[in-house]
Amino acid sequence: MKTLAQLLETCPFKGNRTDLKSIMEALTEGAKRIHKDVNRGGLANIYGAAGSENVQGEAQQKLDIIANDYLIEAMNGTGSVCVIASEEDEDILLTTHPQSPYVFCMDPLDGSSNIDVNISIGTIFCVFERLSPANEQPQLSDVLQKGRAQVLAGYILYSTATVLVFTTGAGVYVLGYDTDKESFIMVQEGVQIPENGKIYSCNEGNMLTYSAQVRGYLSLCKSRKYSARYIGSLVADFHRNMLKGGLFMYPSTEKDKNGKLRLLYECNPLAWIAEQAGGSAKTPEMAVLDVQPEKLHQRIPFFIGSKNMVQEALSI
Ligand code: AHG
Ligand code: MN
Ligand code: MN
Repeated sequence: MKTLAQLLETCPFKGNRTDLKSIMEALTEGAKRIHKDVNRGGLANIYGAAGSENVQGEAQQKLDIIANDYLIEAMNGTGSVCVIASEEDEDILLTTHPQSPYVFCMDPLDGSSNIDVNISIGTIFCVFERLSPANEQPQLSDVLQKGRAQVLAGYILYSTATVLVFTTGAGVYVLGYDTDKESFIMVQEGVQIPENGKIYSCNEGNMLTYSAQVRGYLSLCKSRKYSARYIGSLVADFHRNMLKGGLFMYPSTEKDKNGKLRLLYECNPLAWIAEQAGGSAKTPEMAVLDVQPEKLHQRIPFFIGSKNMVQEALSI
């Protein structure tokens, strides 16, 4: 079974392999620290709110900030990343190596509402090559790139097992975390999302404010007796749908006209994984990866999973 280090020596990569390895090494070091805290739960004093709000107007949980700090520290140590965009920080963060060639975007802790109740949570990330010259200060435009330009993307899911899922553009790799050896071991490559599925994931509490089309699709799912599965952690809902086939959607609602999920560090990374696995990820207008980001924390209506389910949901 290939270790992550062995996989990173051979996997195709559009860029500098030394930087790829240092970024993935840093990411997994941060993820191991998050894994340790998550697995200690209430014993690690990670439960509860931090008493602050993030730019999203959401109460930050202690683990949101802890995970964010771990990963910023890790990326600072690579010498490969010049700027970071995080869900938890209002503006872009220059690293201690602002001449470096890569940009790192992250949702350090996805599924914050599930931290205190022992339900699966995750970390979502993606990497771009910087656009600005290395001898200049990194700009917001280095971060506001279309998802198509990603060179590395994926997530870590802290669940019954901790798994790392990522792509460099040549298919989707799944690696399990061996807690004894403290290393990630590849368990699957070339993951394919079934083109059809019988699982739909959405927060039906918002149903009355969904569009007539979305409500029509939901009725269709129910008439076909599909299973409703909604964990409240995007990474966990996506991972299950990727392996079994299914559709996750967070459409626009009365409260969130553009939906709730953030383009840069939630939708784009998962959209690339989905497309690499033969699935799709769309807004009602276009493929997620083709959306030109205008703002750091921009939200988009999000439909992702089995190709035919996304197609049908958006064709109604
Ligand atoms: P985060 O914890 O990073 O803010 O993300 C939570 C997201 C996503 O993980 C999940 O699918 C969605 O919020 C759940 O939203 P609702 O509680 O509105 O259904
Ligand atoms: Mn999230
Ligand atoms: Mn988050």
